[in-house]
Amino acid sequence: MYEDRVRCAALRSKITTAAEAARLVRNGMRVGASGFTRAGDTKAVPIELARRARDESEPLRITLMTGASLGHDIDRMLTEAGVLERRLPFQADPTLRRAINSGEVMFVDQHLSETVEMLRANLLGKLDLAIIEAAAITETGGIVPTTSVGNSASFAILAEKVIIELNLAQPAALEGMHDIWIPGRRPRREPLPIVHVQDRIGTPTIEIAPEKIAAIVITNEADSPSTVLPADEETALIAGHLIEFLQHEVKRGRMPAQLPPLQAGIGTIANAVLSGFAHSPFEALTMYSEVLQDSTFDLIDAGKIVFASGSSITLSAPRQAQVLAELDRYRDKLVLRPQEVSNHPEVIRRLGLIALNTALECDIYGNVNSTHVGGTHMMNGIGGSGDFARNAACAIFATKSMAKEGRISSIVPMVPHVDHNEHDVDVIVTEQGLADLRGLAPRERATLVIEHCAHPRYRDVLREYYRDALAYGGQTPHDLGNAFAMYTAYKETGSMLGHR
Ligand code: COA
Repeated sequence: MYEDRVRCAALRSKITTAAEAARLVRNGMRVGASGFTRAGDTKAVPIELARRARDESEPLRITLMTGASLGHDIDRMLTEAGVLERRLPFQADPTLRRAINSGEVMFVDQHLSETVEMLRANLLGKLDLAIIEAAAITETGGIVPTTSVGNSASFAILAEKVIIELNLAQPAALEGMHDIWIPGRRPRREPLPIVHVQDRIGTPTIEIAPEKIAAIVITNEADSPSTVLPADEETALIAGHLIEFLQHEVKRGRMPAQLPPLQAGIGTIANAVLSGFAHSPFEALTMYSEVLQDSTFDLIDAGKIVFASGSSITLSAPRQAQVLAELDRYRDKLVLRPQEVSNHPEVIRRLGLIALNTALECDIYGNVNSTHVGGTHMMNGIGGSGDFARNAACAIFATKSMAKEGRISSIVPMVPHVDHNEHDVDVIVTEQGLADLRGLAPRERATLVIEHCAHPRYRDVLREYYRDALAYGGQTPHDLGNAFAMYTAYKETGSMLGHR
């Protein structure tokens, strides 16, 4: 069954069980595992690790690096078994989130383009082991990744040993869809030669010395489906405001008619907003993004997107079944790249991207918090949003104007944690409207954000704050004693409106 997938005959002797392969992981190791927003994660060896830590008495604590979040409850199982000492660069698991917020797991929240750059520069210590999901191993030992590339290529190259999980449930037709290119060493690195979203600059496989492959485990399990919710009335309104804004940009000659390449972040809101482009007048769209969600395939099928470059394909269960069964239909419209290429500042700046990411909350001056609930508690991580927002030609942040049934305003006087600062944020959009902050001073931004983006229920409290703040003067007026009063009100009364 697997002979045609392990085409390098010499490597077939490495085939073993997940339990045996997991024995290669020892206490204190740094392990790099494939997986990017639930796609292409390793599905057997990490689960064996959790079992071992639970059932055996020897200590087993590791640093786990991945591309981004994992599926299959792997982060939950590893957390519950106490295996995770350090975790980077992203996660989205409720159990791990709790362990991070209680201080049990040290979480390093990183720009997704930077993890392997730091590994390569020896800033994170040496990588002991890589565990990589593959669709096939070629005659010469080349590794064919599956539904994500993420950090797999650099993990495999930089690790001392590599375990392959060869997943028979991932279609063999994935071969050829990847473009693996690894930046050279600094400071004599050559330019990254992508000048069009569809450019292929590398190889279709991850090339490492076959002797480094220490074990091959055969698996047969689909990726966990994405967890995004369908579009709703509010996301449709956000999409409408955004499309109107972009039409205006085209009319004024500031963007080409088919728009610059689009990036859309993870989550329900970005996916739903991108879906809204199906009803837009835009044609021949392209994407230079990291995660390709259902919306990308909806737009490809609708003939709106002609090419999408990403690092992973993360889909709902029905979409996953359809897309993977019909991969040949998408073959000439897709490429999957390492995340340090999909998120590379040089390419993002060169292509002049429109970057659409989701905020937890924004402040009246345009600073954005994407990660820390209430300023202290980690949600998921910054992911690629900083890679894109900092370097895009137009950095847009979307959020619903209120959260938790209206008890929280997503527009606040001062965000208690800043992921994207006012210098990087061009546009804020909520279901209420859109604020184009480009070229505006903070005092001009404040009124625009309050009047266009805040929910009417919160406008008075924000107007009052801003009016009082003006008395303190400054380029960016704040009443520092009251800047977080809405958070105190929420804590004390369960609503940011307090007793109003
Ligand atoms: N304060 C507290 N909680 C808030 C909030 C706020 N201001 N705004 C939203 N939330 C909560 C929601 O209530 C929801 O909670 P629930 O899971 O208990 O229902 C949760 O945050 C997710 O919000 P939702 O409105 O469903 O949006 P989403 O699925 O699009 O996720 C982010 C929004 C910000 C959490 C998500 O986009 C993210 O992690 N972003 C950072 C990484 C990133 O941008 N990557 C992009 C490149 S891939």
